Amino acid sequence: MSFRFNFSSEELESAENDSTVRSSLDNYDGLNITGKQPIPKPFIPPRELVLNNLNDVLPLTLIAERIFISTCEQSILYKRHLSDVKFQVAQEDNFLETNYNENTRILELAADNDIVQGVYEGGLKTWECALDLVEFLSKNTDNLNFEGKRILELGCGTSLPGIYILTTKNPFRVDFQDYNEQVLKLVTIPNILLNTLLCPKTEDFSNGTAEIDVPECVNLLDQLKRSRFFMGDWNGLIDTINLDSEQEKYDLILTSETIYNTDSLPNLYNVIKHSLKRPNGIALIAAKSIYFGVGGGVLLFRQLIEQDKVFGIKIIYNEKAHVKREILILSFLDCLA
Ligand SMILES: C[S@@+](CC[C@H](N)C(=O)[O-])C[C@H]1O[C@@H](n2cnc3c(N)ncnc32)[C@H](O)[C@@H]1O
Repeated sequence: MSFRFNFSSEELESAENDSTVRSSLDNYDGLNITGKQPIPKPFIPPRELVLNNLNDVLPLTLIAERIFISTCEQSILYKRHLSDVKFQVAQEDNFLETNYNENTRILELAADNDIVQGVYEGGLKTWECALDLVEFLSKNTDNLNFEGKRILELGCGTSLPGIYILTTKNPFRVDFQDYNEQVLKLVTIPNILLNTLLCPKTEDFSNGTAEIDVPECVNLLDQLKRSRFFMGDWNGLIDTINLDSEQEKYDLILTSETIYNTDSLPNLYNVIKHSLKRPNGIALIAAKSIYFGVGGGVLLFRQLIEQDKVFGIKIIYNEKAHVKREILILSFLDCLA
């Protein structure tokens, strides 16, 4: 089943062109269900993406745009422009000539749908709650104290919250998970490099974008090897992450706009529950109060957590937009007692 959050391709393009992104996404008006025929839900099994070289991942140049964060001292994040992703994929198509490229399929799906359930889960664009989460993190760096912490961003897509932490303090490690391998390769990894090693300068920008050369050097791979990357479904992900001891578990789990699908809520919750470190680990969940058309949202997620009685929940951010946006913090109940 495919969904569209009431945007045309042009609107999505212009959202990507807008360096603040947020304004055009504020018109969110719910889901359009475009596919009426039930189709069997495919399942991409979870696995770790191990990077041994970047030749088949990175192009020679990247086009970056800026995301201005209103609240923090390091007030700009960089993200790969969607047009650049399209350009890379078109070039690969020319090169392959005969083979239909899996990247092309994901881009075609993303042009017409926000999400195609079980096939493409929306990771190529930045969703507005991701920016709420970045702003929240930037206002609370002292309270959250990322130094030496193990952090995981689930359903990362363009990964701005995880990358924000990677660039500001000195975390032990920030790991990233997305449903689609293509999303990790086309946006997550380039965005990490743009914000850590490639770092465009102000003078590189003209008309809102900067073209940055990607050098062939081992530093890039070294930087990426500081993180682990996981792809595929949340169902079974805990076995793939394979955290043997409490010490290896995550101090902080971040996730944004991932609780829209009622079917996958229990699996997402399970990953959080089993990979968060006791007793002090916390999870930050940024989401809309309801996702019209698919039924998920904050209310349902809260019910799931309250029934399980493992975590306490607090709403720590509440933006009264047309559809309310919230950030929840989960912490272990036995720690709160
Ligand atoms: C709407 S996108 C949000 C992307 C990003 N967090 C943001 O806010 O910009 C939802 C993300 O959740 C992840 N996701 C959705 N369903 C999933 C599932 N069943 N298993 C694993 N990941 C899933 C995908 O990785 C996808 O990128």
